Amino acid sequence: MRGGKSLRRKILKVLYEENGEYISGEKLSEKFQVSRTAIWKHMNALKEEGYKIESTHKKGYRLIKTSNKLIPEVLEGDLDTKEIGKKIIYFPTLGSTNNYSKKIAREVPHGTVVISEEQTNGRGRLGRHWFSPKGEGIWMTIILKPDISPTEGMKMTQIAAAAVVGAINRVTGLKVLIKWPNDVVLDGKKVCGILTEMAGELNKMDYLIVGIGINANSQSFSQDLQSVATSLAVHKGKNIDRQSLIIDILEEFEKLYLAYIKEGNLHKTLKIVRDYSAILGRNIYVLKGKERLKAQVLEINDEGILVVRYEDGTIAPILSGEVSIR
Ligand code: BTN
Repeated sequence: MRGGKSLRRKILKVLYEENGEYISGEKLSEKFQVSRTAIWKHMNALKEEGYKIESTHKKGYRLIKTSNKLIPEVLEGDLDTKEIGKKIIYFPTLGSTNNYSKKIAREVPHGTVVISEEQTNGRGRLGRHWFSPKGEGIWMTIILKPDISPTEGMKMTQIAAAAVVGAINRVTGLKVLIKWPNDVVLDGKKVCGILTEMAGELNKMDYLIVGIGINANSQSFSQDLQSVATSLAVHKGKNIDRQSLIIDILEEFEKLYLAYIKEGNLHKTLKIVRDYSAILGRNIYVLKGKERLKAQVLEINDEGILVVRYEDGTIAPILSGEVSIR
């Protein structure tokens, strides 16, 4: 088909910008210098991808916006950022955006974002599976090439968590909290997980990828997930606009990220991480392998590290691992 996939996405952008109004096949064929049959074929391909496009013989084509599918060109165009999301790589389906990002990280520019409507092999922390059904969530990975040491990688998780809670708050009005270090929870159940991975040597980072998974519009979860996971739509009572949420997250991520990379300033991130903490001051279990130790959370220190007091009075930082609320 003439123009292939890139023309198809340009057509989609034009349809989107018509705001639900019709645009004739003739206008589109003039604009893109292809035949009306070619336009018609691209429309069919877009419908097959899942976009709801109405066509009438007289008026032409229109995009029904409720189809709630992501449109990467619109995302790129609407994003007001300098580095993050200047390039967006979009897939209707993919194994895992983190796995794919690792494959391409060295060849793509810093700030590239990989997004998929669905992941067939979504990965969570500690080798767990991450449920990523089609069109229901935000499954994306930000590829970063900062000049920092690998020990600072954890701060990127904190920056991402801070960006996600702020954005969810602004876009949906829902009061989500951060369960340090990488979960965002709503009424005690998980709505977002972050998986940061790095490549490089001991003291020199090659690249770092931050994978963000948000249960946005899922209505149901399998039995084993029901007690621990929820979605924004379940709490909001209606579907949320994933596109707006992605834009807000990436713009906020960039602000917090650049403040840290350019000025060494982590204050704003820390303020959000502390203000929206689900565990600060609370009694928790620190999970170390098979061990479960009772502790109280004292602070999230200036490095973003959790400091706890164990039952025997010992005060210690938690550098990695997991916590659960008692
Ligand atoms: C966790 O809480 O265990 C982390 C979950 C991270 C899931 C996201 S979805 C996008 C990216 N790609 C993956 O395979 N995983 C992360």
